[in-house]
Amino acid sequence: MRLSQVLFSQGFGSRRHCAGLVAAGLVRIGGQVVDDPDADLDTEGLVFEVEGRAWPFHAQALVLLHKPAGYECSQKPRHHPSVMSLLPPPLRERGVQPIGRLDEDTTGLLLLTDDGALIHRLTSPKHHVPKVYEVTARHPLTPEQLQRLRDGVVLDDSPQPVRAVAAEATGETTLRLTLTEGKYHQVKRMLAAVGNRCDALHRSAFGALTIPDGLATGQWCWADPAAITPSR
Ligand code: URA
Repeated sequence: MRLSQVLFSQGFGSRRHCAGLVAAGLVRIGGQVVDDPDADLDTEGLVFEVEGRAWPFHAQALVLLHKPAGYECSQKPRHHPSVMSLLPPPLRERGVQPIGRLDEDTTGLLLLTDDGALIHRLTSPKHHVPKVYEVTARHPLTPEQLQRLRDGVVLDDSPQPVRAVAAEATGETTLRLTLTEGKYHQVKRMLAAVGNRCDALHRSAFGALTIPDGLATGQWCWADPAAITPSR
């Protein structure tokens, strides 16, 4: 692939802008400036630098964001900044979107991608990708409440009960809940349906992916799609 096309595909702006970055000597490969926009490159394993920042080539982008509270997943946020503002311009330019949404006050693991097929696959109910939530409840959790969460509760938008594939107390008022669907406010509504209330919510896993050690709140890293559902 031509170097200017590489930059364009990775979100570094218009074709003309990308050719300009290269011609201006702002792009390095293997530490050497490459100033020919038409230089032909093998994209397999390619890492290039733009204005000193290293960037690995990804045909499709998948990133894991450690979402802080106070950010909305919407592209057009209403009351708080968008999670997009935590990502660098090339990822925003590529049009990455969250795979499912977390509420503004929910923290934890959020995946974003520009791969529409991946979004469809991971949000489709028939794929049953487990998501793990760490819940802080307002009131002490009873064994009956945990059992009802596992057995299934009816929410107000459907007569079909929704159930947690796992619900285990991790403390008197804390709970680890594993869900395979992603209905609107599902954890909060399930807690309310059993007579409790969700005071804080953190997503700790999406499929087999967890937040890497050292990835601070508000930071992001690249993720491997194969690591989400490794057995498939
Ligand atoms: N369930 C909720 O209620 N909120 C979230 O952000 C995620 C799951």
